[in-house]
Amino acid sequence: MNNSILVIDDEEIMREILETLLTREGYDVRLASTASEGLDLVRSMPFDAAIVDVMLPGMDGISALDELKKIDDDLPVLMITAFASVENAIAAMKRGAYDYITKPFKNDEVLVVLRNALAQRRLVAENKALRQNLQAHVNRFGDIIGRSPRMRQVFDLIIQAAPSRTTILINGESGTGKELIARALHQNSSRADRAFITVNSGNLPPDLLESNLFGHVKGAFTGAVYPKKGLFELADKGTIFFDEIGNIPVDTQAKLLRVIQEREFMRLGGVETIKVDVRIVAATNVDLRRMVEEGKFREDLYYRLHVITVELPPLRDRKDDIPLLVQHFLDKYAAENNKPGLELSPEALDLLFDYDWPGNVRELENAIERAVVLSTNARIDADLVPDHVRSSKRFQMPQFVVPPEGISFREVITDFEKRLIESTLEAAGGVQKRAAELLHIKPTTLNEMIKRHDIRPRRKKAANGAGASRPGGASPDVEDDEEVVGADRE
Ligand SMILES: Nc1ncnc2c1ncn2[C@@H]1O[C@H](COP(=O)(O)OP(=O)(O)OP(=O)(O)O)[C@@H](O)[C@H]1O
Ligand SMILES: [Mg+2]
Repeated sequence: MNNSILVIDDEEIMREILETLLTREGYDVRLASTASEGLDLVRSMPFDAAIVDVMLPGMDGISALDELKKIDDDLPVLMITAFASVENAIAAMKRGAYDYITKPFKNDEVLVVLRNALAQRRLVAENKALRQNLQAHVNRFGDIIGRSPRMRQVFDLIIQAAPSRTTILINGESGTGKELIARALHQNSSRADRAFITVNSGNLPPDLLESNLFGHVKGAFTGAVYPKKGLFELADKGTIFFDEIGNIPVDTQAKLLRVIQEREFMRLGGVETIKVDVRIVAATNVDLRRMVEEGKFREDLYYRLHVITVELPPLRDRKDDIPLLVQHFLDKYAAENNKPGLELSPEALDLLFDYDWPGNVRELENAIERAVVLSTNARIDADLVPDHVRSSKRFQMPQFVVPPEGISFREVITDFEKRLIESTLEAAGGVQKRAAELLHIKPTTLNEMIKRHDIRPRRKKAANGAGASRPGGASPDVEDDEEVVGADRE
């Protein structure tokens, strides 16, 4: 759908110029010659942005701005002002205008500012939508975020499996949320108000691990001065979670198998059988099947655990969850760090979206926490995205095929230079200064090359406000052979 833009200007020639310019860009333009006419329009249909002249007969542009904001607080409003009344424009900015443009303006300047305004509006709208979505999804599964088809399957499985006592194996790479899922299984079961006990079999020597799990009687070994309850007893009527089950030594595996089958065991050194009612959940990030083949994991235990398996997909396979997760962690760490209203720029989100996240959700969470802590203003820009995430979006050299008859070195180089400049200008939203920065060359050098290659500003939609380092990122050095319009009238 085309973006709709409202223009409020009392001068017919200005309305016409803007209408022609914006329509040619594909915007849906509505014109009003007075503030009250404009306000009527805004009340009757949705707009994506408004361009308002400061000097209007009757209600002036600043009051019109106030009224527009009352109707739609998120509407970006661009003020147009004569050079002489820049103070008015600054006053307007303080009252919530998105940016201002002074007359006479260049076409490109208007278009760049407008594009940025629309990109911001989109971001604000997306943030709102994300928040609403979050509300709908956090309730049941605590803090587990996700609405990708793969995660929905996981949620469905949890709902089905949670109430029973069936053993569950959770499979997933590091940082995919295995522990969260284990807790959700517990919380969605009738055991929710009983213990949830985690066993980190880590690098414990087998003896110690077993005395932790099963407890021991007095005098079971040197140092066993008092009898001790094991984790299985503590987890009675609750859930016991074996994190990294693949780390359990083979001898202990046999004992574990018995508990799973019989729901009973003996304390170390004891003769009395102890019965427990526990739900067993296990997690692994290794291929247990392979361990079985290698003789490192008991096959019978493998099958006991494998009754129901939850496969947690790596983050790179459910990228549609990234924006939601980003918003979730942004809210979380903004609150923790006392930085309310912190936002992420579209460029930064793009980078986070494109990255592969080998460390999965944990790595993403860490990246956001870092950015929030380091942020110094209300918006997190691309520079706060970790270097290795940023640099994964690399420049790609084209593949060269040299035909048997050969090629003209000079022509290829010239052509390559031209295309590189065109692509960079596009990435910079047409702002030459920014493009020069991206290419690490001086703006004058770039300008000279643009002339040499006869590169014309393309009327192409720029990537989401690219190059906007400040609101409105319009650069005064957009130089092209555009006609200068809106020449002084006041
Ligand atoms: N879907 C999710 N929604 C919100 N937070 C998540 C999600 N998945 C993971 N996390 C967060 O990512 C971090 C890692 O999750 P968790 O510890 O559950 O992963 P794991 O699979 O157990 O990792 P490991 O294999 O390294 O132990 C935690 O801080 C967790 O809160
Ligand atoms: Mg874990």
